[in-house]
Amino acid sequence: MQLTPEQQRLGKDNFHEAVSFTRRSFLVGAAAAVPGLGAAYFGYEHLQGNPVKVGFIGSGDEGSVLLGQHPPAYMDIVAVADLRDLNRVRALHGDGNDVRPGLIKKLGRETAMKIELYRDHRELLKAHPEIEAVVIAVPLCQHARVAIDCLNAGKHVLTEKLMAHSVTECKEMIRIAREKKLLLAVGHQRHYNVLYDNANELIKNGLLGDIKFIRAQWHRNNSFPGRDSWQPAIAKQDRAGLDAMAKELGFKDADELLSKDLGYPSLDKLVKWRLYNNTGGGLMAELGSHQLDACSIFLGKVKPIACQGYGGKNFYGVKGIGSPEQQADDREIDDHVYMTFEFPGPHYAEDKNDITIVTYSSISTNRMEPYGETVFGSRATLIMKQELEAMLYKEASPVTGGGGADQRLYVLNGNDGKPALQASDSTGPSKAAAVADIGQVSRGYTEEMEHFAYCIRTNNFGPIAEGGLRCPGEQGMKDAIMALTSNLAMKHKKRIVFKDEWFDPTNDAVPETDPEIVG
Ligand SMILES: NC(=O)c1ccc[n+]([C@@H]2O[C@H](COP(=O)([O-])OP(=O)(O)OC[C@H]3O[C@@H](n4cnc5c(N)ncnc54)[C@H](O)[C@@H]3O)[C@@H](O)[C@H]2O)c1
Repeated sequence: MQLTPEQQRLGKDNFHEAVSFTRRSFLVGAAAAVPGLGAAYFGYEHLQGNPVKVGFIGSGDEGSVLLGQHPPAYMDIVAVADLRDLNRVRALHGDGNDVRPGLIKKLGRETAMKIELYRDHRELLKAHPEIEAVVIAVPLCQHARVAIDCLNAGKHVLTEKLMAHSVTECKEMIRIAREKKLLLAVGHQRHYNVLYDNANELIKNGLLGDIKFIRAQWHRNNSFPGRDSWQPAIAKQDRAGLDAMAKELGFKDADELLSKDLGYPSLDKLVKWRLYNNTGGGLMAELGSHQLDACSIFLGKVKPIACQGYGGKNFYGVKGIGSPEQQADDREIDDHVYMTFEFPGPHYAEDKNDITIVTYSSISTNRMEPYGETVFGSRATLIMKQELEAMLYKEASPVTGGGGADQRLYVLNGNDGKPALQASDSTGPSKAAAVADIGQVSRGYTEEMEHFAYCIRTNNFGPIAEGGLRCPGEQGMKDAIMALTSNLAMKHKKRIVFKDEWFDPTNDAVPETDPEIVG
């Protein structure tokens, strides 16, 4: 949605005003507690005792973000493992920016240089039995294998999303974690993002009215040559390092080592793993899963009813468009996906008409609206923009015309005792916004790692209501089911009804082998 800077400012003020009404003491209290914002919001405390001893596995693009955001008061990084030489260097030195500062900048040279570096997760596990937990950020096809190796070695696991490459793997991970009595968390960071928590509070308070439609998208533009970060070049140092490792372990070269011992068909597919079906999960796994996760949070974490959609290689697959380099691309994944999901509304059990539609698109040829979710309610519209901004607009009143994108709103107690939105002629800034702006909004990575460590120290295996993990394996599996079933719906061109047994980790039924889909 294209909004003027004034309309955006109003929308942000509206959001903060509404949040301060629905949870006034909480917001102010939390803001005063910055930087412990996450703890104040998500019900954990500062860690008592020693920080949890942690190993990081995978220090590529995302692992380096997590290293930069990790909370030293909760986590003591003992070792980092990465197969690629340059990414091991990157763990220490980062990219020279705030997103990936590197451990030397984050912890100081003396502390950082004590962190030991290994090539693969097995070397790390063998060398450091004292490690209590691992944070895993490796390519999707290896999430399950690496997580299971770590669980079997007695480590609590926080693995990046998508939880695994198949639902079968998700179930196996959950079963082993349960059997070994270890925590299994999945890195869908929106569960730990204060903005999303606040937005959810507005929805729970009914301020948006009836929600019948959510539009989510992640749009990128890779049509300019050299723009696709999903097809990086293979660095000479990485090849040389893996060739040397191969020789040492008795393999011919990097490709043989990777395919015979590490689960990657080749070095090319280790580096460009997102582009191929047996190493990645396409746009729905990489991007869509985040937003379906957000939508399911907004809709009360309910399971979806059904999905259908279209996916195609509409850019990379068309001869005659794009640069020669783009034309030579041999990707298997779709570059444009469009999905529709049916979710149950709050009255669905009594009336099957109560359905909320979520549409999701991810395209590769236009980024006018980069990424976010827009929740269209009968009383207000909520826009979540790139995980960092939230805007709220009242539906214009049919009587007074008040509302819309150009008016400030405030909240009052409605006739029914519940909060209700009112339009205001004032366009002045909200005091609540000033309070909320004290700390820069965190995307949730730090908080998810803090809470993971806190649950380990307090031995909390309970549900969220009892302070447990906000995105445990069971939730991560739900997100994986939505993303992976979307892929099946697009591939088989079917409307797929989600089955309850898929969501039960103790039941072997999974969408990828369901005869009604693939038979
Ligand atoms: N939560 C988010 O917002 C977010 C954002 C981006 C990526 N991710 C997820 O993070 C994961 C990693 O993505 P990325 O962009 O960092 O990929 P990447 O290719 O940049 O990095 C992955 C790294 O893992 C290393 N690796 C692979 N197998 C290994 C093993 N057995 N032992 C040690 N190291 C190993 C590789 O050498 C590589 O450096 C993916 O699952 C991705 O979906 C999450």
